[in-house]
This record gives sequence, structure tokens and C-alpha cells, in this order.
Amino acid sequence: MSESERDLGEVQREHWQQTYGGHPGMYGEEPSEPAVHAAAAFRTAGAREVLELGAGHGRDALFFAREGFTVLATDFSPVGLAQLRDAAGAQGVAERVTTAVHDARDPLPLADASVDAVFAHMLLCMALSTKEIHALVTEVRRVLTPGGSFIYTVRHTEDAHYRAGIGHGDDIWEHGGFAVHFFSRELVDALAEGWSLREVHAFEEGGLPRRLWRVTQTVPNNG
Ligand SMILES: C[S@@+](CC[C@H](N)C(=O)[O-])C[C@H]1O[C@@H](n2cnc3c(N)ncnc32)[C@H](O)[C@@H]1O
Repeated sequence: MSESERDLGEVQREHWQQTYGGHPGMYGEEPSEPAVHAAAAFRTAGAREVLELGAGHGRDALFFAREGFTVLATDFSPVGLAQLRDAAGAQGVAERVTTAVHDARDPLPLADASVDAVFAHMLLCMALSTKEIHALVTEVRRVLTPGGSFIYTVRHTEDAHYRAGIGHGDDIWEHGGFAVHFFSRELVDALAEGWSLREVHAFEEGGLPRRLWRVTQTVPNNG
């Protein structure tokens, strides 16, 4: 990782810490649409445990727990994860939720083939370089069981904020202090090499609206 990549990551981490500190529970208590979809898909696939990357204050992790899954929720913001733990206690699901402070640029703190399902809503499109995104997806594949599912969402190059604000190179653009890596379809396809790519579903979220893809890919059973 170059110094400039590390610097942007550290600035972003601080920005997210301050954002969650200033706006506790900012995404609300209701689960995202992708999480509702993922819970159904994971259940159909027979999954019991979910690893969530970039869980923030936990609107989706807590939903997965309420749905009966055991959840490991990770994020690089301890402030967000503290809010998640408080909410887990208040909702009576604390025994099914574990949190871990984890930077998506680092190896996952899990053994090979140890989790059935991985979910990441708007995490892969954070301030990660293409190389770091590939490394993260390789890690996701390492920790998934054969047949395991990975459902992620990303903002893409049709989003209104693509090429707006401060450019950091590698399709990363910063707007209002938040740096986003806008995904091309080529990047989605490249990340699915060696996986079974099940679906790339376009949807919108929020008032802008953000334009996203929800991607579902699974580890081949012989993989
Ligand atoms: C757009 S928010 C989405 C939060 C959550 N998935 C949700 O939808 O409610 C992105 C999240 O990714 C986290 N994040 C950004 N970069 C990260 C990194 N390099 N490693 C781990 N978490 C990161 C932020 O702290 C934030 O919680």
C-alpha cells in the first residue's frame, strides 16, 4: 500500500468516526433493502452465520440477528460498532452478534472456509484501490465455505456523484468528505472470476439517489 493510499484511508476512517459520533444511528433502525434480500437468499442457501463487512452502526447486522443468524459485524469505526453493540443489547440479540474493528484493507480475522455467507452494503465502494478490492474479495473467498454466498452492493459509474468533487484516481471521487470508488461493470466481472456470478441487480437508495448494484456471487462447490 502506498503512503497516499494509507493517508486517504486514515482520513476516511477519522471522517467516519466523526460522522457516527455526530449522528448516532444515522442510517436508522430499519434494514436496507439489500439486507432483506440477502437474509432470504442466505436462508434459502442454508446459511447460519453471516460475516458483515462495513456494518457501521448495524441496521443490517441487527436485522440478520433478529432473523436468527449468528453475525460477526466488522467495520473500521469503533464508534459505529459501539452503537451497534448498544442496539444489540436493547433489541435482545446481543448473544448472536459479535463485533470486530477491522480495516477492509487487512486480511480477515477468520479461518479458511469458516463462514457460510458474507454481506457488505456499500463497503467495497469506499476509498479502496482496485488492488485492495481484489485482495478483499480474495479474502472473502478464503473464509467462505464451498457453496457460500457473497452479496455486496456498490455505487457505480452511472451515479450522479461519479466524477464529481475531488478526484483521487482509480475511479475514487470525494464529495462532502466521503470518498467513493465508483464501480465499472468490468470491475464487477473481474471480481467474479473463479466464482459463480448469480446476479447483478441495479437499484437506488436515498434521496440523491445513490445508484447501486447488488451483486450475488457464490463459491463453486468444487472450489
Ligand atoms: C456507506 S457506510 C455503510 C454502512 C452500513 N453498511 C449500512 O449500510 O448501514 C460505509 C461503512 O464502511 C465503513 N468503512 C469505510 N472504509 C472502511 C474500511 N477500509 N474498512 C472497514 N470499514 C470501512 C465505514 O465506517 C462505514 O461504516
